[in-house]
Formats: sequence, structure tokens, C-alpha cells
Amino acid sequence: MTETTLRRHLTQSALDPNLIFLLEDIASACRSIASLVRNGAFEGNLGSANVENIQGETQKTLDILANDEFERICSNSPRLAALISEEVEEVTWLKEPKAGDYLLYFDPLDGSSNLDVNLSVGSIFAVMQVQSDGDRNVLLEGRRQVCAGYALYGPSTMLVLTDGTQVTGFTCHNSTGDFRLTHPNMKVPAETSEFAVNTSRYRYWDTPVRRYVDECVAGETGVRKRAFNMRWTASMVAEIHRILTRGGVFLYPADSNNRKAGGKLRLMYEANPMAMIIEQAGGAASTGFTSILDIQPNGPHQRIPVILGSQSEVDRLTDYHNANHSSETKE
Ligand code: AHG
Ligand code: MN
Ligand code: MN
Repeated sequence: MTETTLRRHLTQSALDPNLIFLLEDIASACRSIASLVRNGAFEGNLGSANVENIQGETQKTLDILANDEFERICSNSPRLAALISEEVEEVTWLKEPKAGDYLLYFDPLDGSSNLDVNLSVGSIFAVMQVQSDGDRNVLLEGRRQVCAGYALYGPSTMLVLTDGTQVTGFTCHNSTGDFRLTHPNMKVPAETSEFAVNTSRYRYWDTPVRRYVDECVAGETGVRKRAFNMRWTASMVAEIHRILTRGGVFLYPADSNNRKAGGKLRLMYEANPMAMIIEQAGGAASTGFTSILDIQPNGPHQRIPVILGSQSEVDRLTDYHNANHSSETKE
């Protein structure tokens, strides 16, 4: 049987050839980052770079190297107009923007606190298009994404992509380095009994999040009348990949400790791409009040609350947020 490689899959699709070139460049960048991550201990690349990024977070050496790989490899794409990276404060313009040119948003290394402990990390990306000749507006809502995906650097390296029609998973063959289609038409299971949230933040949470988690933890004798399981890997890519594989819900809510910043996760290169993937796979993505993909961004590094996963659990969480909001406005 002929293997379906990433190239074969892309060239059989209706995608613009320039977008295919860009997606192949992204795949190459991810392959190279996988190797940097894997060889980090030999090349002296583990640990902190002792530099603060625009997020006020200390960069790891591999955060910087991964960003450089995205820049170096993807800058060759003929219709790529700009790069918007977690690690770079300003938008990097590569050419005079023309209508239809591509804009690449990316988190070069996600979950980088996992690097030194040899646990899963990933890269996240989204592609949008310049609206008209000369237009340098990159603050476009997530519904305009033409493609989104992530690479997971786990026991195997995977690339999961959506072009707005379906979600497809590829695994990098460890000997040949090619990405082969292994997970066609990925779907989030509708019903689930697993949640992912950093419960050490319980004391900061708002009522709706506490209510939801309390009810899950109550198990069979609580209102949910069944046992729930909890997982937290502190790597959004690993979390979302688990949810795409066996269901669940992922929360990084706004709380009393992060509300001033807007939340923890970034809209343009974390929440939006993952929201597109999860929606395309039959799940849902919300802030608790609004669909993530409908948010009009106010800055390239904007943070927002994130609830992603199985439709029924996201619906329940948005119901709890709305119920709490209306009871607060009545008081
Ligand atoms: P990044 O490494 O790109 O800064 O992102 C880390 C994010 C995300 O991957 C994860 O879900 C979350 O931060 C972990 O947060 P906690 O440290 O609060 O667990
Ligand atoms: Mn991240
Ligand atoms: Mn990152």
C-alpha cells in the first residue's frame, strides 16, 4: 500500500499551491525543532537563556532556537508577508503586503517548562491572509484562519492540521523523517469524563469554574452522577492532542490572579489555532461567554480565558458562566 505523505495529502487537496509551500516549510521547521528538542542535552540547549520575552516570561534557550527555525525556514515562502511570534514583540514584515498574502502566527515552543524534565512539548501555528494590498492589519479574528495546526514532540513527533474542512494527523517516521498520514478525520468524542485544569489555582477561580470542577470531583454521588478523571501536563499541545484522541475538556480560565492580563494563554497563536482545530473536530471553544474564534483581537500578544473540548462540557461551562453573570447583575 502506498503511504499517504504530508505532500501527497496536501497536493490532493484544493489548497492554493503557495499555502502548500508554506505548510511544507512549517512541517520542516517542526521536524528541525523536534531534533533540537531531542538533542537538547547534547548540544547544551536545555535550561534558561536568562532573557525576558515580551510576555515577561524568562525564555528557554530552545524557545529562542525554535523561533529562529520558524523564521529561517518559513521566510522562504514566496507569499508569506509577516510572522507573528510569541517570542517577538513586533510583527516581522517580510514583504510589502498584497491581498491574499499569508500571515503566520506561531508559538514556536509550547509547554517549555516541560523541556528540562523531558516531557512533551509542541509548536502551535495559524495562517490567515492579508485583506487588501498594503493592509498591515494582523489583528484578524480567528474565523479568518485558513489553516491551523500543531506539532507534538512526544514519544513520536506528530503534525496535526486543519484546513477548515477536517482535522488530519501525521506522524513523523523516525528513520526517514517524512510525515505520514496516520490519523485521518480526527473527531473529539462528544461525551467525556476527563478534565484538564491547573487545580493549584483553585483559590483564584471564579464561581462557575469552581462549581464545574467541584461537581466533577464529587463523582458518582454528586450532581454529575459519575466519576471524572483529571490530567494536567502543563503543555497545551499535549493536552489538546489527548482531548482530540480520547475526549475531555481543557480550561485555562481568567481568575483573580491573571485577570488584569486577560488570562494566561495568548489568543493569536495559542487559543485561536486550537479553537479552529477543536471546532473542526466537532468540539467547542469558548472564553466562558463568547466563542474564541469570534473575538476581535486588540493586540498580537493578547491573552484570553480558554475553555476547549467536548461540546457538552463546554456548553455546561458556558451555562455556568452565564448563570453566574445574570445572578451577579441581579444583585
Ligand atoms: P508557553 O510554554 O508557550 O509559554 O505556554 C505554556 C502554557 C500552556 O502550554 C500550558 O497549558 C500552560 O501555559 C501551563 O500553565 P501552568 O504553568 O499554569 O500549568
Ligand atoms: Mn504556549
Ligand atoms: Mn511558547
